[in-house]
Amino acid sequence: MTHASAPRGVRLLGTGSAVPPAELTNKDLEKILDTTDEWIHQRTGITARRICDPGREGTYTLARDAVSRALEASKRRAEDLDLVICATCTAEMTCPSTACRITGALGATRAGAFDLTAACSGFVYAMNVADTLIRSGRFQRIGVVGADAMSTMVDYTDRSVSILFGDAAGAAILEADPDPSRGCIHQTLSADGSDWRTLYMPRRCQEIPPGEESNPIRLGYLRMHGREVFRFAVTKFREVIEEALSATKLTPDDVSQFICHQSNRRIIETAIEKIGLPRDKVHVNIDRYGNSSAGSVGLCLDELWRAGKIPQGRPMILVAFGGGLTWASSVWNV
Ligand code: ACO
Repeated sequence: MTHASAPRGVRLLGTGSAVPPAELTNKDLEKILDTTDEWIHQRTGITARRICDPGREGTYTLARDAVSRALEASKRRAEDLDLVICATCTAEMTCPSTACRITGALGATRAGAFDLTAACSGFVYAMNVADTLIRSGRFQRIGVVGADAMSTMVDYTDRSVSILFGDAAGAAILEADPDPSRGCIHQTLSADGSDWRTLYMPRRCQEIPPGEESNPIRLGYLRMHGREVFRFAVTKFREVIEEALSATKLTPDDVSQFICHQSNRRIIETAIEKIGLPRDKVHVNIDRYGNSSAGSVGLCLDELWRAGKIPQGRPMILVAFGGGLTWASSVWNV
């Protein structure tokens, strides 16, 4: 692939998403856990989440279907893609990557492929990486997807973690554009690995930090210090949005949508109040889907895109934070 010399921008061509048909409601959880619909709704804003049927569905099938729908919406064929990036922390296999399986299933015969892991921040990380690669001149068209089947990673005997998560995938097709001002005009990719114990999934006993050996959650399942994650998410939410607005000299009025990771309705509400964001510009679907990790921002983007709420010529801001700890923002001139 040759390197283009002229500066170029990036166009968001279309989006797609996929969720499993089966719904797991708070009422269903009441039957298997010592919890109530009222407690879950009050603390998180969640009423239901979608859950894969492990015999037929998973991260790979959701990611594949989301990319396929995004290609259809973009009026592009799989063979047109140069690269597929899949953000996930619940891949069924680490070899091959989920992205490789997607290229095989859809017939993206010219595309390179890799998975990227940044937990809930994954989709925003992948959008930023894809924009940068297209601007480099080496890639013309990239399929980005964030997908997680969190139901495979949560212990349904643990009421503090399992109530939060659901399964989903969201995808976008990005293409080189002659206008350099189009695409991602500001981005951050950040991490603080010193705090990884706040949210982690140990596969081996050796990985369990001292003092946490008595945690009853089984190996291979997510462990979380909920209050610490809450504090981190509220702080970073505010920091990254204020930094993005200040760096781009935009005001909330200039922005069409703030598309935020759906971690907990109270986290989103706190940020809206502290930053003073217009409520109608912060999409919330956590009530229906729970926290779908890397699937969440792409799923919101697809809902908004299809509803015609992402107008061309207006900036949108993507924000996410999650395990790692990681956080990311992406300001797009659509
Ligand atoms: N039903 C009923 N009671 C419960 C439940 C439940 N499902 N879960 C916990 N409790 C109990 C606890 O045992 C505790 O009881 P105690 O006081 O007798 O000890 C009490 O409720 C309070 O527990 P806390 O954990 O302090 O409750 P909190 O108000 O912090 O809410 C929650 C917990 C919802 C997990 C909150 O901390 C949170 O949302 N944190 C953020 C987590 C998050 O977003 N994680 C996503 C992954 S990372 C990301 O997306 C950024």
